[in-house]
Amino acid sequence: MRIETSDESLTELQVDAVVIPVGAGNDLDGSGQALDRALNGALSDALPNLGFSGKSGSVCVLPSFGHVPAARIVAAGTGEQGELTLDGIRKAWGAAARKAREAGARSIASTTPPASFGSAGVRAASEGVQLGLYRHLEYRSQRDDDRDVERFVFTDSGDEERDAIGRAEPLTRGIRLARDLVNTPALDLYPGRLGGRAWEMADEHGLEITVHDRAALEEMGAGAIVAVGQGSAREPRLIHLIYRPEGESLGTAGFVGKAITFDTGGVNLKPADGMRNMKIDMGGGAAVIGAMRAIAELKPPFTVHGVVAAAENMVSHTSYRPGDVLTTLSGKTVEITNTDAEGRLVLADAMTFTARQGVDYMIDLATLTGASIVAVGDEAASLFSTDDELAGDILRAAEISGERMWLMPLWDAYRSNLDSDIADIVNSGTRDGGAIKAALFLKEFTHGIPWAHLDIAGPAWSTTVDGYRIKGATGYGVHTLATLLDIREHNQAG
Ligand code: BES
Ligand code: MN
Ligand code: ZN
Repeated sequence: MRIETSDESLTELQVDAVVIPVGAGNDLDGSGQALDRALNGALSDALPNLGFSGKSGSVCVLPSFGHVPAARIVAAGTGEQGELTLDGIRKAWGAAARKAREAGARSIASTTPPASFGSAGVRAASEGVQLGLYRHLEYRSQRDDDRDVERFVFTDSGDEERDAIGRAEPLTRGIRLARDLVNTPALDLYPGRLGGRAWEMADEHGLEITVHDRAALEEMGAGAIVAVGQGSAREPRLIHLIYRPEGESLGTAGFVGKAITFDTGGVNLKPADGMRNMKIDMGGGAAVIGAMRAIAELKPPFTVHGVVAAAENMVSHTSYRPGDVLTTLSGKTVEITNTDAEGRLVLADAMTFTARQGVDYMIDLATLTGASIVAVGDEAASLFSTDDELAGDILRAAEISGERMWLMPLWDAYRSNLDSDIADIVNSGTRDGGAIKAALFLKEFTHGIPWAHLDIAGPAWSTTVDGYRIKGATGYGVHTLATLLDIREHNQAG
């Protein structure tokens, strides 16, 4: 799909559908009023009669009865005027674009969001459109590709808007890649294949990449990744992507992702319900790969290492077991108390590896614990950090990105729950405070580098369709990572 700008008006454009934002109480903006005049007031009459009230997130399709070239008019509720946010814009445009496609439109036009948002508004609207129209059709034997939207036009737009749209595209392509990777069933997406997908992406975008296979991981001493992956015939990988800016580098970031391509729980096997959706357990790794793709195109002035620990946690005669003691890449030993607490193990090695790249800070993303979902629900991530400034910047980036997260404590008081009788630490403590204990485990592998951890077990997946989110993988995390680099660039500029 192409996103274009135009100086023609909605009443003249040759498109299949036009989208108009409608505020609470069916408040029309300039473009809506012009359309209403072209329809002799039929629009403002019809909306309330259809039970439409401009509620945020609501959408409604009306026919234009030949009064304008576009046959369909899509009203997109934007709610109370003072309450509209960038994410509200994403949602409204995402839902409207999907509704237009459902009604058979292949070309759509809309005006720009309220001018008070500046170019950030158009950017958010294009993000909403591109993400809301996302579909994963690869596994349908009968594709309905013929109904894909080909063109979305923003009217009343010029150079500034074109620029803003240009920044939305790399970002949404990164998010869509992350969604694709997570949505792909584990049968077809295993560690080696994930490495291959990362390789293709790196090749296309000029990123450096090394994929360490099992032999290399053994040689390196990454005993935790090797152990978690040893129950599967499909061997583990450590994927290392590097983005280097063209000019001077203002610093070095490390993004680390958990990519368990399928989590059976291992010998501590998950019950059927808990295993059903465990192809999502590479959501953190997918977010890192998606973010690296976005970064390669957005070109921030920082060096960025993307490190993804990929393994399949399977049950077999070669699986690691409870009671085993592993030696991690850091040299620290871990006694296994539960093979289902595998994410923190692969992350331990990946974090040590990342720390050795000389990063100024690192952020890991992982579908790490069910306990995080219990704590903050399935629409938010739990954020943990050893560095207040980093946490603050991440929270600001998340706010702009529309990714909900909540800062959680790293209380030392719970650390003794991870003490082992025979090794340096156990991998799993008691259930209570499980997300915190997982984070405390990871903290042991930060090597003094400012660090933040995002437990994305909940928001990596959506069970409902809402705005620009559809059922399935969300690509959560890509947006915040990319935006964080923007924020840090501005911080450094003064
Ligand atoms: N991948 C799971 C966590 C998860 C749960 C992700 C639900 C997405 C949705 C993780 O590896 C896991 O199994 N965690 C255990 C930890 C426990 C054994 C300490 C859990 O949450 O029960
Ligand atoms: Mn697990
Ligand atoms: Zn897992």
